[in-house]
Amino acid sequence: MLRHAVITGWGHCVPDRVVTNKDLEARIATNDEWIWTRTGIRERRIAGPGETTSSLSTIAARRALACARLPAATLDLVISATTTPDHLLPNTGSLVQQALGATRAGAFDLNAACTSFLYGLAVGAQFIATGALERILVVAGETLSRFTNWDDRNTCVLFGDGAGAVVLEATDEECGVLSTVLGSAGDADHLLAIEASGSAKPATAETLARGEHFITMRGSNIFKLAVRAMTQAAVEALAKAGLAVADVRAELAHQANVRILRSTQAALGLPWEKFVINLDRYGNTGAASVPLVLSEYASTGAARPGDDFLLASFGGGLTWAASVVRWGDVEAIIRRREAQSVPAHLHGPKRPIDRAAGVRTLQ
Ligand code: ACO
Repeated sequence: MLRHAVITGWGHCVPDRVVTNKDLEARIATNDEWIWTRTGIRERRIAGPGETTSSLSTIAARRALACARLPAATLDLVISATTTPDHLLPNTGSLVQQALGATRAGAFDLNAACTSFLYGLAVGAQFIATGALERILVVAGETLSRFTNWDDRNTCVLFGDGAGAVVLEATDEECGVLSTVLGSAGDADHLLAIEASGSAKPATAETLARGEHFITMRGSNIFKLAVRAMTQAAVEALAKAGLAVADVRAELAHQANVRILRSTQAALGLPWEKFVINLDRYGNTGAASVPLVLSEYASTGAARPGDDFLLASFGGGLTWAASVVRWGDVEAIIRRREAQSVPAHLHGPKRPIDRAAGVRTLQ
């Protein structure tokens, strides 16, 4: 029997520090009216000195696990979706896995820019559909502010920091991730890029002086491609799930620009009221944007069993994706799991680290 990956927990975390459009007016040649009318953003959250992608991700993940009433030690896998990892090495997923105490879980990072969360959701759903794994955390965190040139008004008004997470569990019921469509166009790589600090162009004093470690973007080119790609992917994801636009309860899309969402809405023929928006408060939080809007929405209790949600995103690469997610009867699924006696070995480390050897010992 085909198993589905259902969302049983959700959580998000944003830094406390708020930077408003007015605050930016004091720094660069911009104004609240331009930012608001061109983007739909009023303010964004910016990570403080002690906050990192992994620390925001860990808090979001803890909230998702608490929501699912699931101990971290029962997770099989941590997928960390991010464009702005704490380090190139080690991966952020392992830092989150360790901070959570997910002692049985594998962990890795996945980077498809702002589309990373939907790619992570697709990967997690496949592990569950094949029967390989039972419980997976997909967490997306970003500290885009650390890669933003705060003197570049073309980009610095757009981005914000934050994290969102979901717990995926196996179910035999017809719910959870029903379909996914993934896309990429590597020939448009120049539209959104961080040119230096990778292996192709390692950081040097010159690259730093030229600001090549910051995000650069050709906004209007991305705008057109984003609308086309998200609309096409959404239509295909709905068809794969056997659903029509009218069946969609709400669209939880990448929060990059309200005008992009308006154009996508018009192309899809979905009522604007069905688009859930939080970019006015958070700006574009990259990979974190879709789980952040999903978590806020689900936390209000608005998602009901059987509701079909359309998730869509696009980002650097370029990459894009859409997914149809049917909300499960989360409380019933958690109660059934809790009623089953969880084998004792699931509560302890499956592969304890032999710290003397510095490696995990396989059992
Ligand atoms: N304040 C005031 N004026 C500005 C600002 C600013 N912050 N930024 C640009 N301008 C000026 C430009 O210099 C230009 O002036 P000019 O006409 O004298 O040359 C003018 O405003 C118009 O600029 P455009 O780029 O044409 O403005 P546009 O309407 O395209 O809006 C925007 C720009 C908001 C960036 C839009 O193109 C957009 O949202 N694109 C998508 C970007 C995006 O979503 N990127 C991220 C996706 S991937 C990811 O999420 C990581």
